[in-house]
Amino acid sequence: MMLERNRLICGDNLTELATMEAESIDLIYVDPPFFSNRNYEIIWGDEAEIRSFEDRWEGGINVYVDWMKQRVMELYRVLKPTGSFYLHCDWHAGHYLKVMCDEVFGQRNFQNEIIWSYRTGGASKKRFGRKHDTIFFYTKSDSYTFNTQLEKSYMMHKYGFKKSNFKEDEQGQYSMVISKDWWEIPAVGSATKERWGYPTQKPERLLEKIIMASSNKSDIVLDAFCGCGTTLAVAHRLSRKWIGIDISPSAIALIKNRLANLGIGESDIDIIGMPKSVEDLKRFKHYEFQYWVVNELHGTPSSKKTGDMGIDGFSLFNHYPIQVKQQERVGRNVIDNFETALRRYYKVPRKVIHGYVVAFSYTKGAYEEVARAKGEGMKIELITVGDILDKKVKIRQIVSPNEQNNLL
Ligand SMILES: C[S@@+](CC[C@H](N)C(=O)[O-])C[C@H]1O[C@@H](n2cnc3c(N)ncnc32)[C@H](O)[C@@H]1O
Repeated sequence: MMLERNRLICGDNLTELATMEAESIDLIYVDPPFFSNRNYEIIWGDEAEIRSFEDRWEGGINVYVDWMKQRVMELYRVLKPTGSFYLHCDWHAGHYLKVMCDEVFGQRNFQNEIIWSYRTGGASKKRFGRKHDTIFFYTKSDSYTFNTQLEKSYMMHKYGFKKSNFKEDEQGQYSMVISKDWWEIPAVGSATKERWGYPTQKPERLLEKIIMASSNKSDIVLDAFCGCGTTLAVAHRLSRKWIGIDISPSAIALIKNRLANLGIGESDIDIIGMPKSVEDLKRFKHYEFQYWVVNELHGTPSSKKTGDMGIDGFSLFNHYPIQVKQQERVGRNVIDNFETALRRYYKVPRKVIHGYVVAFSYTKGAYEEVARAKGEGMKIELITVGDILDKKVKIRQIVSPNEQNNLL
């Protein structure tokens, strides 16, 4: 397949993969959710993993494995005969998925069970800490791309003599050896620079290793559960072509921001399946709508704590609160409540308090209330979804250093 432009697709991967050309992809990495899509919900920030696996999973393991098998069979179909497939999973369903992948790819095409170990996350006193994920690596045939990866192997003891293949760094003496099938790579923690706040974001170093080993420059990399776009960002950086699919419009909106950060504009990629009209957006689930709006405004979704106060996100540059209503004719009472939320949020008195409300439309009373509140030092902007779709919204980006200091 000639892939003229990289492609970002919002949709169910089963449907989307069915439209793709057979044997056209060089490398596939997937990191699926461990439960059926039907129950999938994005919960941002630290709340993300609070709901237990069992709570989310209806129908038992067989339903999940069947759901995955349909997708793995499509992925197998689109993979080139020389291609590679990596499936990221963990203790929840990994063993069942391995058996299923053996059936689809053939046991003899299984290459590695990679252990990604990390230190973060909690641990129970009742068992050993669960601190690794598993990545199954398959190829479609015996003839496949593999660029041997090397890693440092440290000596147990320091040797006084100099051997030509010994090197030394702050951790001690080492030699370079063929990379093993267990990788210690820190997870994306809250203090990590690469963090985008997407609950299941994987570290770029992990994808770097996979992409460098199993593809070459200009090869096509596919991630059919691309989340916040880690695979795509790394593939781009390593000069690979890429296709990303995710069912969540807010994930796609976030990826657009992530790519923009790398200097890749919307005109450089084909974006397929994103909402184009107000009617499309009315059909969104509420949380998807909320995150779509916040991301379109280049903002960040709020944590649950501030969400409780009626604030759904913050604009990126000036950090002004944003409230999102998936409603027509938002009236005076909503603006009233937002004013209260703003006062509670900006605990310290300020000369001017700023905030944005986003909805489909507003009543006359809402505009009157905004005008009235202006007299009390409240600058509330009423933004319509139509304005966002028409790219008419410009959130003020420059704040004076003084104003910066006042931000909470
Ligand atoms: C575990 S996350 C992937 C995280 C990703 N590796 C990253 O680093 O950001 C799984 C993703 O699969 C997506 N997803 C779930 N069901 C899907 C489906 N049927 N088709 C496409 N994407 C789906 C979810 O929206 C979610 O973003």
